[in-house]
Amino acid sequence: MSAFDHIVILTGAGLSAESGLSTFRDPDGIWAKHRIEDVATPEAFARDPETVLDFYNQRRRGARDVKPNAAHMALARLETEFPGRVTTVTQNIDPLHEWAGTRNLVHMHGEILRTFCMHCGDRMPWEDDLTVDLVCGRCGNTGGMRPDVVWFGEMPYRMDEIYEDLARCDLFLSIGTSGNVYPAAGFVVEARRAGAHTVELNLEPSEGVSMFAEVIHGKATEMVPAYVERLLNG
Ligand code: OAD
Repeated sequence: MSAFDHIVILTGAGLSAESGLSTFRDPDGIWAKHRIEDVATPEAFARDPETVLDFYNQRRRGARDVKPNAAHMALARLETEFPGRVTTVTQNIDPLHEWAGTRNLVHMHGEILRTFCMHCGDRMPWEDDLTVDLVCGRCGNTGGMRPDVVWFGEMPYRMDEIYEDLARCDLFLSIGTSGNVYPAAGFVVEARRAGAHTVELNLEPSEGVSMFAEVIHGKATEMVPAYVERLLNG
């Protein structure tokens, strides 16, 4: 019987690394090859939409062709078998949590396999490349179709729900994230304020490592299944 009732899990790019998707801040990561201000801001899209769409077209092609790894599968198992509430909040825009079977999931930075029309606000599933001359199927306008992802300078999605869960959780897990990007990097503080036990599972110490009560370093596909097994049956 677990000592916990309510788990909040925050995940980042390190969780999907062993599925073959690049992280952002590792030496060969995405931000070593692209400048954030060129590809991941509203200003970049206004200035040069082709470059921004091309950057996310590459991300979309990558995300379509990968599979969930053992860490995604273990987290889906945790949600199914844990007797209490499990909320997974991911910074990842890939679909690997849901493909693994996680249901109570918040994509706080959006989803690469969806579009968002800046003219009418319509959101829809989308697997192909986006182009600047794409016409919105709902409002008929051109030039406003963007990936449904959150850019730097924009508010992440569903923050009220996330903070409600953090205020009630008694276990907070941070997995595969470098702790560089707020507000996600501050979730550990909220969880501590709620009295939760806090655990970092990451390849290396994150920026916020000193905020965690327990720290486990290693590969996600090894650490996460072992940790889930311990939580469920330990
Ligand atoms: P980062 O690239 O900043 O951090 C990934 C973390 O995963 C690093 O600390 C790695 O050490 C760790 N890691 C790498 N491989 C791993 C493995 N196999 N197992 C476990 N850990 C591993 O990615 P995020 O923290 O997710 O936002 O980045 C946060 C946000 O910054 C992203 O959502 C994105 C980015 O800019 C936006 O684009 C808005």
